[in-house]
Amino acid sequence: MQYNESEFLIETIVPEHELIISRTDLEGIITYANETFCEISGYETGELIGKPHNIVRHPDMPSSVFKDLWQTIENKKQWSGIVKNIRKDGGFYWVRAMVSSVYKDGELIEYKSLRTPVSYEEKLEHQKLYDKMRKDNGEKRRKIIYESN
Ligand SMILES: Cc1cc2nc3c(=O)[nH]c(=O)nc-3n(C[C@H](O)[C@H](O)[C@H](O)COP(=O)(O)O)c2cc1C
Repeated sequence: MQYNESEFLIETIVPEHELIISRTDLEGIITYANETFCEISGYETGELIGKPHNIVRHPDMPSSVFKDLWQTIENKKQWSGIVKNIRKDGGFYWVRAMVSSVYKDGELIEYKSLRTPVSYEEKLEHQKLYDKMRKDNGEKRRKIIYESN
């Protein structure tokens, strides 16, 4: 998908007092999204349920971050990290995500993610880090359409 440059610059700030919550099945398909997740990502609940969680993947995120996430949770450990996500309208938001397993009667049934706000300094640090990681890995840069008018 392509976005124009101005949309890329619009940040949605995650409020201090609210938690963004989602759950997925074991394949990463969204099974639950709370109201805050819908508001911050710009989607309706019905647009998120049943979709792969990469629906909010931002092209600035290096793939190795998600490889690490999946390896960690598949090893039954909790993963925590700073993630830049993309909104439905092409804007973005940063979160500190804590991803862990959901068990029922001792059986792994789902994964869940709780997300909280990130400080300005951490956003800046991670933007630079992720830009470098993508560059070092030869990953695609963001696609921006420059409008001629
Ligand atoms: C519970 C849970 C929450 C996740 N939350 C996000 C998220 O907020 N943003 C994101 O880009 N990927 C998230 N992922 C990882 C995605 O499943 C996916 O690995 C990632 O977006 C990379 O997608 P791709 O490898 O298909 O490009 C989450 C995974 C799980 C299990």
